[in-house]
Amino acid sequence: MFPARFAKAILSLTAASVLSVTPVMAQSLDLEPTGQWSANTNGRAPVPPMGWNSWNAFYSDIDETKVLASAQILVDSGLAELGYRYVNIDDGWWMKRRQSDGRMVIRTDKFPSANIGPDDLTSFRPLTDRLHAMGLKAGIYSDIGRNSCGQVYTPHFANQPEGSLAEREVGLHGHVDKDIRLYFEEWGFDFIKVDACGIRGLGADTKHVTSGNYREFKPLIEMGALGRTDIAKVRELYTEVDEALQRYNPDGDYVYSLCLWGSADVRAWGKDMGNMSRTSDDITSNWSRMLTNLDTASTRALYAHPGSWNDPDMLFIGAGDFDSNHMTEARSHFALWAILNAPLIIGYDLRKATPEQMALFGNAEIVALNQDPAGHQAVLAHQSGDLQIFVKTLSTGEKGLVLFNRGLVPFNAILTAGHLKLRDDVTITLTSLWDGEKTEFRGEQRLQLAPRETLIYKVSGERVLADGLYLSEQPGNVNPAEDGVVVPQHDPFIHRTAWHSRGPGDHPQYGGWGGAQADRTPFGEPLRVGGKPFDTGLGVLGNSRLEVQNHGYKSFTAEVGIDDTAVNRNAPVIFEVYGDGRLLTRSGPKAFGEATEKMVVSVEGVRLIELVARVQSDAKDAGATLPVTWGNAALTK
Ligand code: GLA
Repeated sequence: MFPARFAKAILSLTAASVLSVTPVMAQSLDLEPTGQWSANTNGRAPVPPMGWNSWNAFYSDIDETKVLASAQILVDSGLAELGYRYVNIDDGWWMKRRQSDGRMVIRTDKFPSANIGPDDLTSFRPLTDRLHAMGLKAGIYSDIGRNSCGQVYTPHFANQPEGSLAEREVGLHGHVDKDIRLYFEEWGFDFIKVDACGIRGLGADTKHVTSGNYREFKPLIEMGALGRTDIAKVRELYTEVDEALQRYNPDGDYVYSLCLWGSADVRAWGKDMGNMSRTSDDITSNWSRMLTNLDTASTRALYAHPGSWNDPDMLFIGAGDFDSNHMTEARSHFALWAILNAPLIIGYDLRKATPEQMALFGNAEIVALNQDPAGHQAVLAHQSGDLQIFVKTLSTGEKGLVLFNRGLVPFNAILTAGHLKLRDDVTITLTSLWDGEKTEFRGEQRLQLAPRETLIYKVSGERVLADGLYLSEQPGNVNPAEDGVVVPQHDPFIHRTAWHSRGPGDHPQYGGWGGAQADRTPFGEPLRVGGKPFDTGLGVLGNSRLEVQNHGYKSFTAEVGIDDTAVNRNAPVIFEVYGDGRLLTRSGPKAFGEATEKMVVSVEGVRLIELVARVQSDAKDAGATLPVTWGNAALTK
């Protein structure tokens, strides 16, 4: 379904549909400490949102019966009780924009309860009331442009908006205040997903525009070319919605879901306003596509925090490579999303779910891993060939663990205490979250993985760092307020799939190359300074500022220096540690190849620590090829 949809969209763009946007400029760096945590805490997403969405199940062919049927099953099955509370209506709900006053009109043939008066007066309030009475939350869908994704990219689409060109402009553009007021204050929604096709696919030379079907919207985004994307403008449009959401939700009970598919460098700024932000294009029921989406989120642990989660898209369990005949794949998809703190949004017609599928969604231990209140996304502890090992620190001090075999042959993995940052001379206990079975070992343990299988465990043992936490174990408390990326680039490490096999195939499309990483350099290598390797630490570019929340620790320690992978070897770097905006300590200028300098700083009573790495050079991009390492960075009691 998808390949055809996108193939058509691509064909409808003529060769001359060239963007003329302001090219992306080198960003100005914001290194000045503020004493403030700047990642988003507005809205209601202290843990990743969970629920159900109509899109993967029905695409736009939705109606009230379908939505309510899955909602009822969430309640009856106990899934709602477990946390699956949001019931989200995706594309396909709208009929038109009423021209007398710009009020949105709902498709009452599909949502009969929305018909509340003459003159196209419609309201979702009866439906949201009903969902609320069931103990659920309600979500709606819109687009940041004038037109929706279905309009722009899917010519033969059920439930397209109808009427004149102006009536069919159902997106938020030019109507932010009015629409957000309507959706939240009047209709009572609790969640909005804001898509972005309307600012992407309606250039002057596209068939939609030349045929007079839709009005031109000078494209602000080009997925394949960050340099032709107007990042600042896109951010401004999403900020306007953010402000309206705060205005019309005085109780703060809303979720703002950004749907920019990893474009427009959203990795760097989505976390400052969105409660969840899509890291990739749409997931499909195809294994390879799932890998793509996984890869767009798996190295971004430092960009997810309570209140602002990475969203590799909704679950596709139930269909295609994840259907009831492929439960190994379905389990892998679920376990990976859970440990990466992805929002767990079911995309399946629950009327069709088998008991085994319901049991998968309802695996309380895995859901608890995802919903752990500390909010630390799992960090990639190992990857080679087809094996990936992810480790997540839990609020109890225990760890969540996933071993994932991406490939088609069995994998004989060796798990070590080092992967877990646990002592190798004390017994480690793995409890399988599939069947409760326990495995005990010291040092290392062999684990056999079937093709595409995921093993998922809760782990206890004795921590290497007995009286504290390494910063790379607590990514939910670390915010790369300035990650030093001067010219955003696509991440070449993401598994590539295309919608179809015409042309040369997709080149990397998702922004984020060079972002801060836990236990790795910004470009994914192991950390190493002056020839000394560090298994643990933060890797970030020079000219960066990391905010770190301190929950009662007394001491900050780190061994700092320029990483051996630096390409720019001519500029020294000074490392500074601030506490609540005040300078606590500063290193000497560290040169390339020099051994690390140890920092030991009292942070007693400090709430926010800031770690600044300043490159001693006037060149604006001096830090761009100069990774620095905060080796063994830790907070201790
Ligand atoms: C985009 C989004 C999808 C879905 C569709 C609806 O493709 O990424 O998740 O909302 O639009 O048309």
